[in-house]
Amino acid sequence: MSEHANQSSGWQLEQSASEAYEQYLVPPIFDPWAERLIETSGVHEGDHVLDVACGTGIVARRVAPRVSTYGAVTGIDINEGMIAVATESASDIEPSIEWRQGDATELPFPDERFDVVYCQQALQFFDDPGAALEEMQRVLRPGGHASLNVWRPLEYHPAYVTLADALERHIGDEAGDIMRSPFPSWNAEDLRTRIQDAGFDDVSVTIEIGSVRYPSIEAFVRREAASSPLAERIAAVGRDVRNELVHGLEDALHHYTDDEGIVSPMESYVVTAGRSL
Ligand SMILES: C[S@@+](CC[C@H](N)C(=O)[O-])C[C@H]1O[C@@H](n2cnc3c(N)ncnc32)[C@H](O)[C@@H]1O
Repeated sequence: MSEHANQSSGWQLEQSASEAYEQYLVPPIFDPWAERLIETSGVHEGDHVLDVACGTGIVARRVAPRVSTYGAVTGIDINEGMIAVATESASDIEPSIEWRQGDATELPFPDERFDVVYCQQALQFFDDPGAALEEMQRVLRPGGHASLNVWRPLEYHPAYVTLADALERHIGDEAGDIMRSPFPSWNAEDLRTRIQDAGFDDVSVTIEIGSVRYPSIEAFVRREAASSPLAERIAAVGRDVRNELVHGLEDALHHYTDDEGIVSPMESYVVTAGRSL
């Protein structure tokens, strides 16, 4: 099909959402936040660690050298596509990582199996976050701890406020909702209460401020779309609508545009919570 005949040219799915997530979102967003999460977690050589809702496995991959071959790393995610990309991208990592497909609210592990449990930017997606936290607590050994991060509410991520509003206007309500879904309305106390209610002690919540960069507004929209359920919705509208979407965003985000593209603050709660002895 020629470029002209193809109304969706360049906006169609050329790879799976999991592959796009690994290629486009992990390097600028999830990899730096994984490093921060691991840094605050105080993990040791020999530890047995679990990465809950591991996605393509960036936390598991980054923590593996820290625990060394004396330790062990397991990653679990409900999405088969994510686990497939995780498996492929970790093929040369030592110690080798065990990848499992499964639900965070029913972890297929015995009680007290792990020293450290990680959960990066996923609690907000679980149908029952309380049940998932109870499961994380159950599989931790007494004296072990969980390290989680959860985005602060949408208003602390200016580029995403603007993108979600533009998607709602140009593509539809559902598209706006999808873009808002990673950013729960929880404040620090909501999060602390949820974690304490699951049985954790010594809960520490800090606010960490980072940023994300994309080479252009168009790349921002394309990469976010390709890595999420938005891809098909955006590909389905006409080229004129997509152009309006991108040009509208270029105007709305000009104050976050520089010689290297666009940059936006991103803020996250970073939580450490212990299981008492
Ligand atoms: C934003 S991604 C974060 C992935 C990964 N932690 C990272 O840092 O790249 C959220 C992940 O949560 C997973 N997820 C959602 N609900 C889940 C559940 N009930 N059990 C396990 N994983 C789940 C999704 O499949 C997705 O991979």
